[in-house]
Amino acid sequence: MLDFFGRFHPVLVHLPIGFLILAILFQWLGKRTTWSYLRLSVPVILILGMLSALFACITGLALSGTADYPESLLGWHQWMGIGTTLLSLGMFWAVQRKKETATNLITALLLAAITVTGHMGGSLTHGEDYLSFGSGQVKPTLSPIADIQSAHVYTDLVQPIFEARCVSCHGASKQKGKLRLDEPSFILKGGEDGLAVKAKDLENSELIKRLLLPSDAKKHMPPISQAQLTGTEIQFLQWWVQAGADFSQKINALPQTEQDKQMLQELQLASQGAGTDSAKGTSVKKSGGAGIAPVFTLAASIPEKPVQPADAAIVHRLKEQGVVVLPVNRSSAYLSVNFVTAGKEIPDTTIALLEQLKPQLIWLKMDEVQLSAASYAVIGKLSNLTRLQLSNSNLSDEWIVNLQNLKALHWLNLVGSQVTIDGLQKLGKLPELRQLFLYKAGFSAADWTRLQQAFPAVQIDTGNYRLPLLPGDTSLVK
Ligand code: HEC
Repeated sequence: MLDFFGRFHPVLVHLPIGFLILAILFQWLGKRTTWSYLRLSVPVILILGMLSALFACITGLALSGTADYPESLLGWHQWMGIGTTLLSLGMFWAVQRKKETATNLITALLLAAITVTGHMGGSLTHGEDYLSFGSGQVKPTLSPIADIQSAHVYTDLVQPIFEARCVSCHGASKQKGKLRLDEPSFILKGGEDGLAVKAKDLENSELIKRLLLPSDAKKHMPPISQAQLTGTEIQFLQWWVQAGADFSQKINALPQTEQDKQMLQELQLASQGAGTDSAKGTSVKKSGGAGIAPVFTLAASIPEKPVQPADAAIVHRLKEQGVVVLPVNRSSAYLSVNFVTAGKEIPDTTIALLEQLKPQLIWLKMDEVQLSAASYAVIGKLSNLTRLQLSNSNLSDEWIVNLQNLKALHWLNLVGSQVTIDGLQKLGKLPELRQLFLYKAGFSAADWTRLQQAFPAVQIDTGNYRLPLLPGDTSLVK
């Protein structure tokens, strides 16, 4: 019930702002004799302003009890809101009593109070830097990392991320949810809901689950009013927990798949201010020191051409189904869609929504999903996709033909699906395809050779070892 009332607050607050500013305007304009008649309406407008301000206060209090806003700002906003309501009462009194000096003073105070309260409210809903100039700069999480493989997993990466985005609420001064994230022992201890981090067990790591919740979910961390983690940072923390939530090792001592290596490379770039998380989408030329040069980076899979923002209503509907929809970086409207928290059997109606995100949707991650033929047909229409992950899905030789039209695809992961070599040969020419992941997909050694001939420019990864590129191919690997 409280929740329901609270939802009206963001709409309702515009009424007192409008009424009270109109009252102030008429009061001031009315000082000129030609417009003195405007003053006659001031008391009525003030009454409307007062009443709506009162409703805004009530709904505001209801809202503050349901969502998680930074407390100090919330407290100020609350008191300023109540103050605004009282000042409007004061102005009414002064106007009625025709006390000229008092009216002038109170009117000026009221205008200031409306401005400050409104600005604070805006900061609460949109984040503190909503109205500041510049590109909405938020404090970066990582200091520049020269070579991520020799960086220390905790002190160079995990700790700075928590420090920048979590410790203000989960540290020495405040322990929201009885959780502290400022020292390894506290991180391992967890909070009210139990373990925050359970090594190698993403499903039971409350911290990871909360990072992956839709950003408007109540339990999403960090709360929506705060600076958010980037997609790469979330992937990194997932990898860290999966790799054992280690606090003492260097990155290169921990297990990494090819994807993990790219993610880490991406994090290194972002720390240097050049990754997908900053303005430029340049690709890396240098090897990450891991022995294998990345063929294509995440950044290279983001088109340079700008795109219109996606339909918010569609994004919202997907989020309601538990699908994670995130911008691929801060500077573009391209989207990544991840079904990790959406269950395994995805209804056709959910997949059909993806078609309406076709211009923006470039990365699609659907692991272990069971889809219908119709849904695979929809995926086949998402022609801007550059990365597609269908590992352990029910994709079969019959349905893979749908993917023929994904001409922009750089990167395809079919690990553990039912696709065989015959199916792959139906895939035909995907001109941009550079990396294909097939581990556990049931191939013989002879199949591999056939495959490499069918996809000469593609680096095929079997999980265990990587097939060498045929001599004379495009110089993808140095
Ligand atoms: C603005 C304050 C704020 C920030 C910043 C914040 N949190 Fe929280 N967090 C809370 C509050 C309040 C709760 C308790 C309410 C709840 O359960 O949602 C909480 C609860 C949690 C819990 C559950 C603890 C438990 O066992 O109940 C986890 C895990 C968590 N946060 C992780 C994070 C992580 C990770 C970050 C940084 C990426 C973060 N939080 C940033 C306010 C914050």
